[in-house]
Amino acid sequence: MIAVDGPAASGKGTIAKALAKHFGLPHMDTGLLYRAVALNLWRWGGDPASEFEALRASDMLSIDPADEELRSEPVSRIASSISAYPSVRAALRERQLQFMEQPGGAVLDGRDIGTVIAPGADVKLFVTASPEVRAQRRVRELLERGMPAHYDDVLADIRDRDERDCGREIAPLRPASDAILLDTSNLDRDAAVGEAICLVDQRLASKRI
Ligand code: CDP
Repeated sequence: MIAVDGPAASGKGTIAKALAKHFGLPHMDTGLLYRAVALNLWRWGGDPASEFEALRASDMLSIDPADEELRSEPVSRIASSISAYPSVRAALRERQLQFMEQPGGAVLDGRDIGTVIAPGADVKLFVTASPEVRAQRRVRELLERGMPAHYDDVLADIRDRDERDCGREIAPLRPASDAILLDTSNLDRDAAVGEAICLVDQRLASKRI
């Protein structure tokens, strides 16, 4: 079981997907769960300031990962605020545990995988990059998807989300004490993936001794 955590646009999703492919494991992007709750709530016109309404939006959650709206900025913002609700996190926890516990293992990426969901994971990676680099990446990603994106707005949004994700009381974003840190600020996609595979191999080898 491999846990990959980190802030918005740090490269954790790309790294987790590549690790899953390399090690032949299934992969879950847990951010999509929070985004799906946010999208549900948004479509109903529910109030993100109400924990009760956010919890209702997490009922019977069906997720279409191809739905472009999951990655839109309003949905990202709502996802970041509703993810602070303990009842919403508890509702989504079960799905993550089921996925994690499947025979043969899995790769999960998110904010609290190494600290809360899978504290006993074989390997924990904590992926970071500077806010400026992350904003540049997110702008490129949004433009490639044909969505509007302005660097200053995206940077402000990333700083906002960092503050909310790190400052919340429940499951705040932080590296587990036994996590391996990987700063991707100066690494391109291939270099970051190569480094991650190398770090995971090393950690697995040290566990086998
Ligand atoms: O891709 P990006 O890092 O921008 O976001 P994401 O991983 O899709 O997560 C969207 C939001 O869900 C984040 O801002 C977090 O607040 C929240 N989240 C969380 O609280 N716990 C997780 N395990 C995954 C995401």
